[in-house]
Amino acid sequence: MQHKAPALVVVGSANTDMIIQLDHLPRPGETLLGGTFSTAAGGKGANQAVAAARAGGRVALVACVGRDTLGREALAGYRRDRINTTHVRRDPVQPSGVALIFVARGGENCIAVAPGANHQLTSADVARAESAIAGARAVLLQLEIPLAAVRAALRLARRHRVPVILNPAPAQPLPRALLSQIDLLTPNETEAELLTGIRVRQPASAIRAARALRAQGVGTVILTLGARGALVATSEGEELVPGFKVKAVDTTAAGDVFNGALAVALGEGRPLVAATRFACAAAALSVTRLGAQPSAPTRKEIEAQVRQGKG
Ligand code: RIB
Repeated sequence: MQHKAPALVVVGSANTDMIIQLDHLPRPGETLLGGTFSTAAGGKGANQAVAAARAGGRVALVACVGRDTLGREALAGYRRDRINTTHVRRDPVQPSGVALIFVARGGENCIAVAPGANHQLTSADVARAESAIAGARAVLLQLEIPLAAVRAALRLARRHRVPVILNPAPAQPLPRALLSQIDLLTPNETEAELLTGIRVRQPASAIRAARALRAQGVGTVILTLGARGALVATSEGEELVPGFKVKAVDTTAAGDVFNGALAVALGEGRPLVAATRFACAAAALSVTRLGAQPSAPTRKEIEAQVRQGKG
């Protein structure tokens, strides 16, 4: 199907991931021998930008990396994905962000991040991207950068009436004043629990949490439920979009791939449930592959998964 690539702006983090694959995740004090090491481009913001670009978006990234080898390589990767990097600043002092990731057999992971240059992303950096934001179909945000930068992006998006998607990851408490300005919030179970105090286990508790978030002023909530899919909650009610059954190798960045693909599908004007299904298909493909950005599928792959999948 022909489509016009929607312009999207992603404001967020950029990391390099240092990955060790192991049989199981190490316990505190435990040394595990025999893992396999690899590196991959990562960072929630950059992952969402790459996922959106491969899904068919015209993407500009607003981020901050170091003036080091990792920063240079990260930028080269974004450009290979045809992402506009005009607003990726290189900080002269702080090193590029790095994440250390353990991935267990079966795909479970645990991650520690040294943010480095990501924490130097300022409101002024975001302000320089105002014309890109003004011309976008949506602005995509997460929480791996200073909250002041998130607020600046939100302010500009609202000034230009551009819808804002906030993926509230990593989980942190957020004031109602901020939540009430979000058009679409995409928490996972942990993030929804932190924001509402409701433990999300079953569809019923997911519905309760989504309603609690909407009661705080969020327009639409899409609560991601891992392999089970995602719950779409609007003023008209809730609908569960089932996940696609795949064999998980690495769940790192599944949420990021979901958000990038979702922004593209919504930017193209797809209805919410169809856009969520497209995003679930992209996320499912990503967990079958190792690494964050290397795992983001192309549009063609996503469309094929939507057609074949049992979601
Ligand atoms: O969401 C996954 C990402 O979280 C990884 O790529 C890592 O860099 C951390 O930011």
